[in-house]
Amino acid sequence: MQFGVYGLKPEEKVFFDAWAQNNGVTMNYHTAGLNGQSPADFAGDDAIVALQTVPYPPAAIEAMAAAGVKYMALRNVGMDNVPFPTLAAKGIQLANVPAYSPQSIAEFAVSLTLQLVRNFGYVIQAISAHQYTEAMQRTGKELGTMTIGVIGTGRIGASAVKLFKGFGSKVIAYDPYPNPALKDEVEYVDDLADLWPRVDVIDLHIPGTKENTHLIGAAEIAQMKDGVYIVNTARGNLIDTQALLAGLASDKVAGAGIDTFEFESDVFPQWEKNEEPTNALYEQLLADPRVIMTPHIAYHTETAVENMVEVSLGNAKAFVETGHAPNEVDVQKL
Ligand code: NAD
Ligand code: COI
Repeated sequence: MQFGVYGLKPEEKVFFDAWAQNNGVTMNYHTAGLNGQSPADFAGDDAIVALQTVPYPPAAIEAMAAAGVKYMALRNVGMDNVPFPTLAAKGIQLANVPAYSPQSIAEFAVSLTLQLVRNFGYVIQAISAHQYTEAMQRTGKELGTMTIGVIGTGRIGASAVKLFKGFGSKVIAYDPYPNPALKDEVEYVDDLADLWPRVDVIDLHIPGTKENTHLIGAAEIAQMKDGVYIVNTARGNLIDTQALLAGLASDKVAGAGIDTFEFESDVFPQWEKNEEPTNALYEQLLADPRVIMTPHIAYHTETAVENMVEVSLGNAKAFVETGHAPNEVDVQKL
């Protein structure tokens, strides 16, 4: 059995090598993501094991199908970058890793929140410029005095709720499918309009589907409390970045933690080369000390990386051996 591994990261290799040895599977490693391949690149591969945040081009899926590959196992959760109609048309089956470590992302979201409410951006900027009095005069807030609005209470959102509750925060949540495990932890609202004016922090944990695009725009920001903080470790398309910048400019928004940026695919090639992104909106956010920008790394812990590799490889092997995988996704439905 041979797997074509795409988007290989150095820290994953040790887990791939160990799994390959234990399972007698050959790995065809590629550090590049899926983009621009021809059928010959997939020769001998029984399944593709992929990880990337930028879109999977339909042409790469077509080349995979032309080479006879029938299975694709993602190493991650989100599937907003997957061309489902192409997979369905080409008869390629898909699996993801739905829960490699929800805690990793939840902890990152809480960490961004703590940094925002304690003015880390200002403090680090001031101390780097030896402006100690500026660093000392920034008064922070405590999470135990704040109300957090968690949008999406699936795996990651539920972990975030528990962490915020540990700090003594009140949590108000919105999810069309309330999580029964949280019934004693949060107050659910039936409508987002009831959440916006009541919370000090908005924490997003929902998929970046077409329907969720610009869930937060100018109209929603206008309904929020003055001085609201917004944290997005979910997907960039959930926030209208122009509206967020306007909210920051008017001080309606006191700060934002952005791990997933709306135009991430545009800046990604520059990130990869350690070059300064030229996207004007990215530059504006980065220059604002009230904004903490991170390059889509909320997931990035040792636990998560190991699970992403091992669970995706388990899915790929099951696909090849049985025609189905434990975390198979119905490509016709999505
Ligand atoms: P999940 O499927 O367990 O939970 C998502 C929840 O969102 C579900 O309960 C669903 O009902 C709810 N939902 C969908 N649309 C909604 C809306 N408009 N309003 C309120 N709730 C809504 O998913 P999860 O494991 O918690 O992951 C959530 C998202 O986090 C993923 O889709 C992915 O985009 C993102 N993610 C980011 C990183 C990162 O490194 N930054 C890592 C993993 C996942
Ligand atoms: C996910 O698992 O959905 C992520 O956002 C992680 C990223 C490496 C793709």
